[in-house]
Amino acid sequence: MPLPSNPLLDRLGGYPLAAFQDLARALRAEPEPVHDFSIGDPVEPTPEFIRQALIQGNPASSQYPTAAGLPELRHSIAGWVARRFGVQVDPDTQVLPTAGSKEGVFHLPLAIVDPHGDRRAVVWGDPGYPIYERGQLFAGGTSDPVALVEERDWRLDLDELAPERLQSACIAWTNYPHNPTGATVDLDYHRRALATAREHEFVLCSDECYADLYPDADEPPPSLLQAAAADGAAGDLRGLLVAFSLSKRSGMTGYRCGALVGDADLIAAQRMLRPNIGTASPEAMQRAAMAAWSQDEHAAQRRALFNAKRAVVLQFFAEAGIRVGGSNATFYLWFAAPGGDDAAYADALLRHRIIASPGRAFGAAGKGWLRLALVPSVEGCREAVAIWHQAIADGAFPGA
Ligand SMILES: Cc1ncc(COP(=O)(O)O)c(C=O)c1O
Repeated sequence: MPLPSNPLLDRLGGYPLAAFQDLARALRAEPEPVHDFSIGDPVEPTPEFIRQALIQGNPASSQYPTAAGLPELRHSIAGWVARRFGVQVDPDTQVLPTAGSKEGVFHLPLAIVDPHGDRRAVVWGDPGYPIYERGQLFAGGTSDPVALVEERDWRLDLDELAPERLQSACIAWTNYPHNPTGATVDLDYHRRALATAREHEFVLCSDECYADLYPDADEPPPSLLQAAAADGAAGDLRGLLVAFSLSKRSGMTGYRCGALVGDADLIAAQRMLRPNIGTASPEAMQRAAMAAWSQDEHAAQRRALFNAKRAVVLQFFAEAGIRVGGSNATFYLWFAAPGGDDAAYADALLRHRIIASPGRAFGAAGKGWLRLALVPSVEGCREAVAIWHQAIADGAFPGA
């Protein structure tokens, strides 16, 4: 007799491009160099002062971390929000550290979804980060993906959805700067999204884990928090939550440190939920996170590095006539597959030991596009585009 199991695991657990992933893994295992732009996990070292804060933050006696996190950490998160966005938040009621933003995003619906209620849907943009949907489904909710398109600059325009859709939703996730497209939005976009959420009474969540990765010449991407502050009632965070992360900002993907900031009632509900789960970051990680949130210079240095890589690849795209979409911020570049078939183009790149993600890995609406994560070094990017250039000249690519 088969043992009981959650059917969602079978439905969601497998990766949609398992064969492609197997091939990529086999390439990585070979001794020849591989130019891997597929995994969103940068390899630059974590700044030394953060590593030191981790070592020195290791307490002599080990005790359970609390769901609320260290008060000093909540203060340093609020300090960064004030410096970065000019918005004052109360560290004690409007800020909650998470063990990475993924963990926060996944667990968040457990405190919001009523699995027996009639508003159970999460609205999110496809292509997009899959965890908005997965968290909702595991919490007993339903998924309502909205196809994002190039013509609309990959924007999820909540105010243009049918009212029935908005009224079946209990949560909508926006994510700008956006993974996988790198698209950005302006402050007015956040204002409109917030007005729609308040009119239709769902929780508006904004995943802003790439808030500090943008081209240096551009205005920093705005936050939903600023829209709430500019909304007439200063600092009125009713009905919204924003997810932040140190992973990419500070080179701390392995530390698992993020934060939720927003509505005090929603934060209180998360605080009540989270001791049931026990995912709080260990104290030493929290001390390292305090150091990282309190300092902006290292984030600017990392930004400059990603921008140097961007410049190399964007110049190549321009020379090769490869059409770029989105790509205004984050450390991703999003481009239209020459010939139109993202899977075929990714396969052709693999044959030259260049690994890129086919857009369909991020949802059906990603078909025809590919994502490059700027993970190789600047020199690695130069080598990869030289190989790519030569392969195009040799006629190795479909439709190129
Ligand atoms: C859009 C988006 N949100 C959240 C995350 C999770 O980041 P972390 O858990 O490292 O903070 C990622 C990671 O790639 C992401 O792309």
